[in-house]
Amino acid sequence: MEPYRIKVIEPIPLTTEQQRAEALKRVSYNLFNLRAEEVTIDLLSDSGTGAISADQLAAGMNGDESYAGSRSFYRFRDTVSELTGYAYLLPVHQGRAAERILFSTLLTPGSTVLSNTHFDTTRANVELAGCQARDLPCPEAKDLDTPHPFKGNIDLQALKLALETAGESPVAAVVMTITNNGGGGQPVSMDNLRQTADLCRHRGVPMILDAARFAENAWLVTRHEPGYQDRTPRQVAEEAFRLADGCVMSAKKDGIVHIGGFIGLNDPELAQKCERLLIATEGFPTYGGLAGRDLDMMAQGLREVAEPTYLAERADIAAHLAQRVRAAGVDIVEPAGLHALYLNAGRLLPHLPPHQYPGHALACELYRRGGIRSAELGSLYLGEEDEHGNPIKSAPYELVRLALPRRVYTRSHYDHVARTLADIAKDPHTVHGYRIVGQSPILRHFSIKLAPVAPD
Ligand code: F0G
Repeated sequence: MEPYRIKVIEPIPLTTEQQRAEALKRVSYNLFNLRAEEVTIDLLSDSGTGAISADQLAAGMNGDESYAGSRSFYRFRDTVSELTGYAYLLPVHQGRAAERILFSTLLTPGSTVLSNTHFDTTRANVELAGCQARDLPCPEAKDLDTPHPFKGNIDLQALKLALETAGESPVAAVVMTITNNGGGGQPVSMDNLRQTADLCRHRGVPMILDAARFAENAWLVTRHEPGYQDRTPRQVAEEAFRLADGCVMSAKKDGIVHIGGFIGLNDPELAQKCERLLIATEGFPTYGGLAGRDLDMMAQGLREVAEPTYLAERADIAAHLAQRVRAAGVDIVEPAGLHALYLNAGRLLPHLPPHQYPGHALACELYRRGGIRSAELGSLYLGEEDEHGNPIKSAPYELVRLALPRRVYTRSHYDHVARTLADIAKDPHTVHGYRIVGQSPILRHFSIKLAPVAPD
């Protein structure tokens, strides 16, 4: 059961199917453009969408809003340095600000960054620094159905080879994303992290953690990695941070705050350069684009997120939904992680070719039938077409992500999601595809316009 009770509530909008069908049409079938008040269960993201605790709210009330040197900063710094061990901590307003500041300082144009899988903003910030972002996921990640416990691992052989044969484009950093959001939310083992750190040290290449979901990764390590059963998630997390040379952190996930993040580093010169850019673009180093109250709430959230009772329940509620979704006849990326379930829309809707966007079709259907908002991760997100709309590239898988906000929805909300999916799975052939009628050249999924393809 949930290790908390509910003290403050927010009514959720209940709408009719007709209202939702009209809303879909109005926003040209782009779920990003719905108003939140039109959504009943919002599983678009687990980022900045968590519920804060009474202790976090109280910590926020105690925030010190001094422009420089606030008590909030020192409380934040003490908490984060105990957790991570890094000598230099720079607060930022969210994860991508950390990425921009670190990568534009650390990377020289023309070099390469390797990763188990770059998250899309991480990739964008590597590319904006004039560098190439290469993903080296482990071979087990390719099979969506096997329950291998650490499919978030980097391919160590490929990493070794890439570090040894960098050629024209030297490797400037290795980014380990824990858990691996772009790779189905799968965790990275401590063994994989350690071996990666060894390879990096041997080559003098910094290893950076993208630690947005460090506590969920640590929980899965305590469950599944030999030798870690008797360790607490907090101990595992402390060890993981100390294996790396630094981190970028979006605290909107495992900081359980609505806004916040930080950069952690040990290298004094690099930290000083980042600090200069921080001052110019985010704010003075003792607030970094945040209010004092945000820093205090983040510090408290970072303590709460590693509590075994919290993590056990988070894993359990995800497993509850996963089990009902499977029972409804919908395949998911296995094993089910903690922050999201990834539905295999391509398999559920085999009558829709990639360029009728089966993932998007399922996401629209979840909204139309159940008021549920989710995110397509398939050929709408990763595919390409020529100017006449003819397919050039499709995604390897057609997935839909149901992201699970922290401490927000209960099992009965998730039962509604599973029932809606079961309803769709009864007659999947009735779900029609979509075609693109308008798009922008970059990050098209945010602004794309679509129209239904009429069934033959
Ligand atoms: N790294 C990872 C692994 C992420 O999942 C995200 C954001 C970021 C970095 C960027 O952090 O949003 O604070 O700037 N992921 C969100 C998501 C948006 O829905 O998965 P941010």
